[in-house]
Amino acid sequence: MSVRKPAPKHLQPETFIFTEDNLILAKKHIAKYPEGRQASAVLPLLDLAQRQNQNWIPMAAVEYIAEMLKMPAMKVFEVVTFYTMFNLSPVGKYHIQLCGTTPCWLRGADQIKATCKDKLGINLDEVSKDGQFSLCEVECLGACANAPVVQINDDFYEDLDTSSIAKIIDDLSAGKEVKKGSQIGRKSSENQ
Ligand code: FES
Repeated sequence: MSVRKPAPKHLQPETFIFTEDNLILAKKHIAKYPEGRQASAVLPLLDLAQRQNQNWIPMAAVEYIAEMLKMPAMKVFEVVTFYTMFNLSPVGKYHIQLCGTTPCWLRGADQIKATCKDKLGINLDEVSKDGQFSLCEVECLGACANAPVVQINDDFYEDLDTSSIAKIIDDLSAGKEVKKGSQIGRKSSENQ
C-alpha cells in the first residue's frame, strides 16, 4: 500500500471534522486571506488535518476542507497528491522521507536507502509490520550542503552514512533519544 495513494476503503473513516482547537486554528488561517481567496489556506488546513489524523489524510478530510474553503474536492486532492509531505495512507510512527536528488545521491543516498530497506525489511512506500516505520523517497529537502539527508517526521538528519542511519533507526526503535541535524557535528551548513 503506497502512502502516496488513497488508503483502501476499509481504512477510510466515513467522516472527518477538525477538533475544536484545530477549528480555531483553521479559521485563523482562513482569515489571513481576502474574501474570495479562502482557497489560499489549503496547505495549512491540510497540515492540520494530517497532524490530527496520525500523519495521514483521509479522503473525508479532503472533502471537509474543500467544503470549508468552497473549492472543488478535486482541487484539494490535486494539492495533496502534488506535495510529498502529505500522506494519503497510514504511515509508521516514524515516517522516513529519504532524499534521492542529485547532491544526496552523489553523497550516498542509494546506500542510505539500502540500509533503511534492509534494517526495516520494507521497500519504498511501505510500512513495517510493527507499524513503527515507513519509508518513502522524496525530492530535494533543501539541505543539500549537508547531504545525504533524511527527514523523519518533523526533523532532519544530515551528513548521514550507513552507520549513522542504522544507529538512528536502532535508537528510535528502542525509544532512545536521537541526535537530530548533522550527524558529524557540523554547525549549520558550514564547511567542515
Ligand atoms: S539534494 Fe538532498 S537535500 Fe537537496
